[in-house]
Amino acid sequence: MSVAKAVDILGFGREQMRIIECDNRMRMNVEILRQLIQIDLSEGLRPFCVVGSAGTVNTGAVDSLNDIADVAAEFNLWFHVDGAYGAPGRLDPRKKALFAGLERADSVSLDPHKWLYVPVDAGCLLLRDQAGARTTFNAADADYIKVHGHSDEEAFAFWDYGIELSRRFRALKIWLTLRYYGVRRIAEAIAEDNSLAEYLESIVSKAEDFELLAPVELSICCFRYLPTAFRLRLQTAVSETEVAVINEELDRLNEQLMSAVQTSGRAYLSNATVHGRFALRACITNFRTTRADIDETIEIIREAAVKMSDMLY
Ligand SMILES: Cc1ncc(COP(=O)(O)O)c(C=O)c1O
Repeated sequence: MSVAKAVDILGFGREQMRIIECDNRMRMNVEILRQLIQIDLSEGLRPFCVVGSAGTVNTGAVDSLNDIADVAAEFNLWFHVDGAYGAPGRLDPRKKALFAGLERADSVSLDPHKWLYVPVDAGCLLLRDQAGARTTFNAADADYIKVHGHSDEEAFAFWDYGIELSRRFRALKIWLTLRYYGVRRIAEAIAEDNSLAEYLESIVSKAEDFELLAPVELSICCFRYLPTAFRLRLQTAVSETEVAVINEELDRLNEQLMSAVQTSGRAYLSNATVHGRFALRACITNFRTTRADIDETIEIIREAAVKMSDMLY
């Protein structure tokens, strides 16, 4: 969504954007990326940028950033990494290897209001080399934004690096959070969020009335409610059409369950589409979440399902 919008804002039109297929862990298939670049080049087009994910919003998948960086280097492309949600996951020592290659990005988007626990809004774009942004956005001929009589550091102004002129002091809350809690404490909270997603994964995988829909990579777990009657119907279905019909019923059931959980006010689940299926999406980015909250969420879903039992049988 955000990349398509950026492409539009840059004036290219969405048809200029190529969406690359994923592997079964929902990571970009870098071989297909390479092939599409070669096809575009052979047709006289000029690919200029590749965007990888350091934690997708749907499932938390982290692309093979080193492999994408190699392709970007080979074809001289700008390498942007969308780390809006997931980049802080690198602070968890158990997850660090997933992010190998992040350091090769030309730019990284990062939303500290997501997984650095900072209040909204605090979106950042981190640039390897600030010179390009300065050349683009600095308006040296405008007298009223000139900073006089200060050292270079003091004269630094965000308006020289982006489109906003008047802007509030977003950096303050990020700075304060980092200073007050410290990176080590924040890293512990992130690691705990990841563990909680794994805890939910283990409950869902063992339960007879749930099904895991995507591998848990960071702090997101995508699953669906799959009551026994539906499981049996899926196991005994004789045709693809029958499977499709059952899955559509499950999509509707899970959509209603999500709404019921949301309106209960006791837990909040969002949704994702995974392999075409409606998934309940638990995204754990709160340092106060505990195992008891996870257990309760599962029970809330089951309670909502009981109330909807006319849909189940
Ligand atoms: C992976 C990812 N990229 C980009 C965005 C967009 O970020 P923002 O809400 O700061 O515009 C989001 C926000 O949900 C996101 O999760």
